[in-house]
Amino acid sequence: MANVLEIEKLNFTYVDTWKKVVSDFDLAVPEEEVVVLAGPSGCGKSTLLRAVNGLIPHMYGGQYSGSVTVAGKSVKDTPMRDLAQTVGFLFQNPENQIFMFSVERDIAFGLENLGVPRPEMRKRVDEAISLLGIEHLAQRAPHELSDGQKQRVALAGVLAMRPRLVILDEPTSLLDPRTAAELVELVGRLRKETGATFVIVEHRLDLVTRVADRMVVMDRGAKVLDGTPSQVLFGDEAELYGIAVPAATRLQKLLAKDGAVGTDRLMGPEELAAETGRGKK
Ligand SMILES: Nc1ncnc2c1ncn2[C@@H]1O[C@H](COP(=O)(O)OP(=O)(O)OP(=O)(O)O)[C@@H](O)[C@H]1O
Ligand SMILES: [Mg+2]
Repeated sequence: MANVLEIEKLNFTYVDTWKKVVSDFDLAVPEEEVVVLAGPSGCGKSTLLRAVNGLIPHMYGGQYSGSVTVAGKSVKDTPMRDLAQTVGFLFQNPENQIFMFSVERDIAFGLENLGVPRPEMRKRVDEAISLLGIEHLAQRAPHELSDGQKQRVALAGVLAMRPRLVILDEPTSLLDPRTAAELVELVGRLRKETGATFVIVEHRLDLVTRVADRMVVMDRGAKVLDGTPSQVLFGDEAELYGIAVPAATRLQKLLAKDGAVGTDRLMGPEELAAETGRGKK
């Protein structure tokens, strides 16, 4: 399968600073994969995502070498306007994602900017609304929505552009646990329904590993671990890099030592409880 994202030997230092924030980074992401990107605060995750959506080097200056290619387009050689149709970006805080007019106008905002003809715009907005199941919000004023609802509206605006790649930077950090879980589940469903590829920075690993195929760990600008979530989290190194291994996964690892469960895939707390209950009988 073709790679939607290819990062080769990427190095980046912000202008007027001396510290390299991304260091010899390589990553190839095939179509329809969901990748979770993790690593300690300040290790360069948001910077890496900026190099994927084009903010680096188009908006943030600095020392840049290597290449980033999204759906065959070289990010540094492609204008932001063209990249906007290929890479969608969901921020941590939905307030940063417009919210000026009505929910529908907000979803249409990116398409309007590109001058997409009205009938096509209508079609894509309706499609995004139905993908996200937010028909009931379409006529509401954005300022009266909850954070979780705003995040869904923002994601609808991203998907209306029909991007091949969607990157999400801590999209659940302002959400309560249940709404966060719903948003993450939604990503899993959207991958199947849109065929888009997702790269998500998310600290709630218990949630995101339910939908991720792959986990990449970054430390001081470099890629240090890369594998399936179970390979990464059952390995001994994840904790050394400050990854908060979910409680259920730690329990599973302990139980696996006694052969009570396997480690080929991650199990949720309910499933672990059921398995160990069965073992006792
Ligand atoms: N615009 C900027 N100019 C200069 N330095 C920056 C800029 N943005 C980030 N940095 C620095 O780059 C490093 C990586 O920051 P980045 O925001 O990419 O980390 P992060 O992994 O996303 O952290 P967090 O988990 O806290 O969001 C930090 O040392 C940060 O201070
Ligand atoms: Mg960040």
